[in-house]
Amino acid sequence: MNIILTQSYEESAQKGAEIILSALARKPDMLLGLATGETPLGIYRCLAEACRAGKADFSRARTVNLDEYVGCREQDSYRKFMFDNLFDHINLPRENVTIADHTANPDAETERLRGFFKRNTVDLQLLGIGPNGHIGFNEPDETLESLVHVTPLAKATVEANARWFADGTVPEQAITMGMGDILRARSILIIIKGESKRDVLRGLLESTAVTTRNPATFLHLHPDVTLIAEKSLTV
Ligand code: GLP
Repeated sequence: MNIILTQSYEESAQKGAEIILSALARKPDMLLGLATGETPLGIYRCLAEACRAGKADFSRARTVNLDEYVGCREQDSYRKFMFDNLFDHINLPRENVTIADHTANPDAETERLRGFFKRNTVDLQLLGIGPNGHIGFNEPDETLESLVHVTPLAKATVEANARWFADGTVPEQAITMGMGDILRARSILIIIKGESKRDVLRGLLESTAVTTRNPATFLHLHPDVTLIAEKSLTV
């Protein structure tokens, strides 16, 4: 794992965006795996800025999102989050966006997305992390699922994500890329932000052991992972 420790979140976001932009420059028709939550927002601002300044061209790129809530309201969906925070600000064609449909039958969506990952390989997967080590919505458990699946959300995740919902009610289920889908990406970029991630970050830095009780530890199995975090979170 390549570790980059920064002085601030802004620097983390800038470095993360640089990695994405250089991958895009090398492969303009790349398939970029994207994440939601607070952590990638700074990266998305940098990507939008690069596009506005004519320094990035997403016209041939494709994206796929890690996860989506099942049966949530449009306003709470990750689809809306992605359009508000990134897609409406870059020149990515709408038809090049793949994200689970929160209104669709979850089993049908699972099949559709499993088909997508059979036919496509993610070039660079951007990840955040949950305070409990979840990546996407692969929650700590006795076993982890390798392919796209519908999953109940862990109590810790419901609590951590309630801040995004106006009425505080988080959907009980989500559809997520599986651990195998994530680990098959050619490169992985994980950004860690926030005090609540301190323990999980230290765990990743201090041990290379892998456990289903902390899904992010599976990143130790991948040959090309870059982790970016603020140095202050490690002390
Ligand atoms: C959600 C998403 C994850 C994300 C996590 C962290 O649970 N499913 O993909 O990494 O939130 O979010 P934040 O960056 O807001 O801490």
